[in-house]
Amino acid sequence: MRLFLDTANIDMIKQGVAWGGIDGVTTNPTIVAKEGISDYESVIKQICDIVPGEVSAEVTSVKKAEMIRQGKKIAKWHENVVVKVPCTPDGFEVTTALVKAGIKVNMTLCFTANQALLAALAGAYFISPFLGRLDDISTNGMDLIYDIREVYDAGGFDTQIIAASIRHPMHVIEAAKAGADVATIPYKVLEQMMKHPLTDAGQAKFMEDWRKVSNT
Ligand code: E4P
Repeated sequence: MRLFLDTANIDMIKQGVAWGGIDGVTTNPTIVAKEGISDYESVIKQICDIVPGEVSAEVTSVKKAEMIRQGKKIAKWHENVVVKVPCTPDGFEVTTALVKAGIKVNMTLCFTANQALLAALAGAYFISPFLGRLDDISTNGMDLIYDIREVYDAGGFDTQIIAASIRHPMHVIEAAKAGADVATIPYKVLEQMMKHPLTDAGQAKFMEDWRKVSNT
């Protein structure tokens, strides 16, 4: 399973790539607003220059024709850009049109296996089921990843599953076991994945003992 960062924060993306585990990025209007970004295009282009893999940028119109126009424009920003479109009735139509135009689409705000099936039939490149938001309403979000994996494998679909709305490191491991192709994670979760108190304590002891026998 690959790891993407779910942020538009340039410093965090640079650090994630430097650590080595991150090869793509997902953004959405909330993430962009959080960073106070007014020029979406230039930030996405900057991100594309940092990460080697796909970078998702979302359409922000609620009108079909405008979503298609925006999607076509966004797709031209960089060869690694994937256009993010919501799993709404209009979104499926927009995805079908964009895919016909040869554009890669990440269908977002997915909360059911039926939406994921329709996304695959529309030719979506990625589907983004939101685990954490389902957990938030007392529904097991991870079950959705298992269901989508089963549906895609049974149907021979090659739409890739991005486990999204990840809240903690256990989500990442469980999503990998469930067969997600990608997990898109907040920077904080990436930090949490690396940390263990026994690693810190063990390293401190190694350094303490080493100082007793060495001048280096
Ligand atoms: C992914 O593409 C989404 O932008 C993101 O994972 C949503 O996460 P949230 O539920 O924490 O806002």
